[in-house]
Amino acid sequence: MMTSWIKFLLGLQEPQQRAQALAFERSRQATPAVRRSLDDVVRALDNGDSVSVFELPDRRVNISRKLLFRHAVLLGQTGGGKTMTAMSLLIAALDQALDASVLSGKPLGIEITVIDIKDDIHRFKQRIAAIYLAASTAKREVMRSAFHLIQWKSSGITLLPLLVPRPGLSIEYVAELQADIVVQTSPSDWSDSLRFLLFQMFRLLLHHDFGFDGPTVIVILTDEAFRLSLTMTLPADLAEFFTRLLQLMAPQTIAAFIRRVLIFCAYREAALSICLPWTIARDLQLPTDAPIVLADCGSRSLLPPNVALAVANALITELLLAARSRDPRVLQITYIEEALYLLSLLPSLRQRVLDALRLLRSSNSFVWFSAQSFDGFPRPSVAEILNNIGWMVAFQSRSDVAEVLFPQMLVSPGDVRSKTDRKDDFAAQLASLPPQEAVLWVKPEPAIRVRSVDVQSPSVTTGISEKELEDIFDRELTPRSTVSLDRAESLMAEWRAAHLPQAPKGKQHDTAQASLRSLLGLGDPP
Ligand SMILES: Nc1ncnc2c1ncn2[C@@H]1O[C@H](COP(=O)(O)OP(=O)(O)OP(=O)(O)O)[C@@H](O)[C@H]1O
Ligand SMILES: [Mg+2]
Repeated sequence: MMTSWIKFLLGLQEPQQRAQALAFERSRQATPAVRRSLDDVVRALDNGDSVSVFELPDRRVNISRKLLFRHAVLLGQTGGGKTMTAMSLLIAALDQALDASVLSGKPLGIEITVIDIKDDIHRFKQRIAAIYLAASTAKREVMRSAFHLIQWKSSGITLLPLLVPRPGLSIEYVAELQADIVVQTSPSDWSDSLRFLLFQMFRLLLHHDFGFDGPTVIVILTDEAFRLSLTMTLPADLAEFFTRLLQLMAPQTIAAFIRRVLIFCAYREAALSICLPWTIARDLQLPTDAPIVLADCGSRSLLPPNVALAVANALITELLLAARSRDPRVLQITYIEEALYLLSLLPSLRQRVLDALRLLRSSNSFVWFSAQSFDGFPRPSVAEILNNIGWMVAFQSRSDVAEVLFPQMLVSPGDVRSKTDRKDDFAAQLASLPPQEAVLWVKPEPAIRVRSVDVQSPSVTTGISEKELEDIFDRELTPRSTVSLDRAESLMAEWRAAHLPQAPKGKQHDTAQASLRSLLGLGDPP
């Protein structure tokens, strides 16, 4: 009885819901510049539970979290204020979630990942450290298990195996992704046969929980007895491939393959952090499942740029892989610095990300893309992003951004200029915006001119130097996130000793070398 009533009432609402949905969809289409009052728009943005990081000359602009927690784009030339804005929003969301967790005793209801190829992680660290210093004992307690830091500094590196196998994910799929990451980010060319060998190699490594490093790959390829011993437990086709390897592949191809692997792993920081067996990271109990992850993939880290890219690639890929199985009650935001640049360097990742935007949205997971402009990003991909975002903010920007925003701009009812005049004027204004001035477009409202609210430097508010704040973050909040290079090296050596064939001391290298030389037809070393 009850349920039929509910169904009846829901039925009554159906046409209304359909009409609302239709109106919403229509409002998303590019419409001519919108004539409404600024008051109206500002009021519509503040639907309760709001954050205020923008202002007008005479008041704050409060924006409901519901509107902000959607896919978004932050655009503008360098120095406009993209990072400051994203940081303020993320830190406000984090602080609220921390307080809620302290009050309720429940786990943090938010997950944030910052993927930064631009060396700005230290700014996040400083602001979070300032919150920590001002926090109650209970809040500090929650904070101490909330963070994971991914970073490569001389003081310590984060161990981050490329991709971690997970239930429901075939080894072949992971192998394909790993091979893709190596190929995309490696400086060398990969022919079809080298690419195929790489894929097969990853399959083999994954089946045995091995890492991807030079010595391991060389031993597998040059020590036939060892290679054959590994084929016992492999699927038939893979076993056959590695059993008949020397018939299937020319020695030159194998040598060329080894060279590429060695180049990729040339930096011990890289080989030790991203390619080691995932079981090592697991056994160390790194806080990899902490809800807040700061990934410093910047150029000041120890990693060469292509490897930093591989890491960003792996992190984004992990995010996409986890989307389907994540708990949609927990809000997730991934902020990617220079996202469009990153994605244009990694075309296959670009497509995967764009394809996943809908799925992510439905699992309460949102991507905030930061970028200088849309320039150099394929038009269909820009359209795809624009279709899927809930809001966008543009600081000083060129005409490609003006082109997108102009049709969305709020026009004051008294403005009688022609559309062309207004458009030219808008493009000129956008191109010369001073720092912190921006155009904010929150769908389905029209876009308006705003300024980002002044934020004081955390070292001014706390009276503690920036360096000290960063140290507090590292020491108090992420003490287990990194290990020293020496420790990583000895863990890897232990792993090799336990898993690779033991040649008499000093011999292993020679044997591998000799087999490789004979593969290459070079005979014995002099
Ligand atoms: N809301 C703000 N309050 C105070 N200062 C700000 C604010 N926004 C920006 N700034 C100042 O402008 C500088 C540049 O801002 P920000 O780093 O956010 O720019 P960006 O758009 O991310 O630039 P880039 O493209 O170089 O990363 C900041 O270091 C800060 O000094
Ligand atoms: Mg920035």
